[in-house]
Amino acid sequence: MSQHQSPDIKRITTHQLQAMKQRGEKISMLTAYDFSMARIIDGAGIDVLLVGDSASNVMAGHETTLPITLDQMIYHASSVVRAVSRAFVVVDIPFGYYQGNSSEALRSAIRIMKESGAHAVKVEGGAEIKESVIRILSAGVPVMGHLGLTPQSIFKFGTYTVRAKEEEEAEKLLADAKLLEECGCFAIVLEKIPAKLAKKVAESVTIPIIGIGAGGDVDGQVLVMQDMLGITKEFKPRFLRRYADLNAIINDAVENYIKDVKSSDFPNNKEQY
Ligand code: KIV
Repeated sequence: MSQHQSPDIKRITTHQLQAMKQRGEKISMLTAYDFSMARIIDGAGIDVLLVGDSASNVMAGHETTLPITLDQMIYHASSVVRAVSRAFVVVDIPFGYYQGNSSEALRSAIRIMKESGAHAVKVEGGAEIKESVIRILSAGVPVMGHLGLTPQSIFKFGTYTVRAKEEEEAEKLLADAKLLEECGCFAIVLEKIPAKLAKKVAESVTIPIIGIGAGGDVDGQVLVMQDMLGITKEFKPRFLRRYADLNAIINDAVENYIKDVKSSDFPNNKEQY
């Protein structure tokens, strides 16, 4: 547990996240997709773990988040849930499992909650998915929104560049954030938008705003675990801070292992029965 973490909290809840916003304590959030990494990250004291559909990129090697299925998300989520004793676990409903209609959205959310044991779901979009958000919330499932750069709509945007730089899109984003709050979402992720707009949104709603590439004047930050640990090498957006160079560390370890196997240095007398 780190010194920056509230010591008296045993399990993070939506109420605690809300209280953190009210007292100005920043919320820490990272993605996780498997048991071993989730256990380390939870043990370090992260507040929220997101089983993101970025699993489609960093776990499965797809170019976009679109191909990942609901079954695959549930598999990742259940592995993460088994590892966690403190963090609040949020799971992305993947592309194609909530946009059709609100019954489909509710069915998908219920499958995630029942089969993975997660604590909440995340969906991308504002007014256009309002009915789905309301229907999921009506079943008692907490919902996190996601606005700005929403990767499930990448083929509509055409690029991964900063969103909402123009007045019209900025106004829609602010209206969508207020709408998601009104519907009952417990938090919203804002991805890759101007810091000034993110600040305005965070000041305009009472629920926590978690940023990724949205500046420092929001209520918390999220990064993709593989990016911040330096496992992915090629992805270098301005907003990314790398906290380790695991790519180099793993590469060195594997090179040394290969060398030791080839030279019959491994295993030695003490490493056998
Ligand atoms: O899928 C994901 O990892 C996300 C984060 C980028 C917020 O949605």
